[in-house]
Amino acid sequence: MKRDILSVLDMKNDLEELINFAMEVKKNPGKYSESLKQKSLAMIFEKPSTRTRTSFEVAMTQLGGHALYMNPKDLQLGRGETIEDTARVLSRFVNGIIYRAFDHNMMITLARNSTVPVINALDDYEHPAQILADLLTVKEKKGKLKGLKISFIGDGNNVARSLMFGCAIVGADFYLATPRGFELKNDDIEKAKSVAGNKSKIVITNDPVEAAKDADVIYTDVWVSMGEESQREEKEKIFRNYQINAELVKHAKKDYIFMHCLPAHRGLEVTGDVIDGPNSVVFDEAENRLHAQKAMLIRLLS
Ligand code: CP
Ligand code: NVA
Repeated sequence: MKRDILSVLDMKNDLEELINFAMEVKKNPGKYSESLKQKSLAMIFEKPSTRTRTSFEVAMTQLGGHALYMNPKDLQLGRGETIEDTARVLSRFVNGIIYRAFDHNMMITLARNSTVPVINALDDYEHPAQILADLLTVKEKKGKLKGLKISFIGDGNNVARSLMFGCAIVGADFYLATPRGFELKNDDIEKAKSVAGNKSKIVITNDPVEAAKDADVIYTDVWVSMGEESQREEKEKIFRNYQINAELVKHAKKDYIFMHCLPAHRGLEVTGDVIDGPNSVVFDEAENRLHAQKAMLIRLLS
């Protein structure tokens, strides 16, 4: 049976194991240099990418395999071939597919029609590959995950949702502070709470200070995600009080870490002094995309 990772919840039973395996792969890269020898990965990107594209492609090279970047405009997909047929055909050539999509339903359709594993490389609903790297980073910096307070302050978006699911699985307390109307959907919150059980808390608030208070991790993301460009002006006004700045991080633990999936906009969701300051781990976090995804690819494709 092939395995897809379309949501962080698809790692519900082995997220900690994947994090530990990523640490092992990071420590001993040479040991895995032929793990995916002769394997190919198709990478379909409907939206731009710096980190995800590069880290998956380099991961395949370092594992002895090969990655093919595909822009839908250059595929027959852009001329009306269906996503179903694209999935069926690619499955005859490659050993796995990563897909960055506008629409989560397209992600599901691609996965259902592929006979090889599909990994969500970000869609409007989730960003699971990001969260594996993020939790790896937290574990490296803090030595543990369980019992930490991890706070996402900003937009209740794809990254926030995936982080909530990830925290619920590993037993970290998750706080989400958004402006009114930008919270995650109740269904998702309930899903996270049921996964967390009595291991950890899932707290949804409109108060950034409540989220920042005694936090071990403060995480933010862009206010305007890809595909939302027409809302830029309005959102930048609404989110002004949710900026991560020196004033807000004073409420966090002294040794808090600042995280951001990147790309960042200094002066909007975060100030330069925070993202470029001593508590920021954003570039280690970015690097960990590579190590985390190598672990994921080895588990799914070999
Ligand atoms: N964080 C992230 O997914 O970055 P890219 O959009 O550059 O891939
Ligand atoms: N929420 C952002 C994440 C970018 C990596 C977006 O979807 O554009």
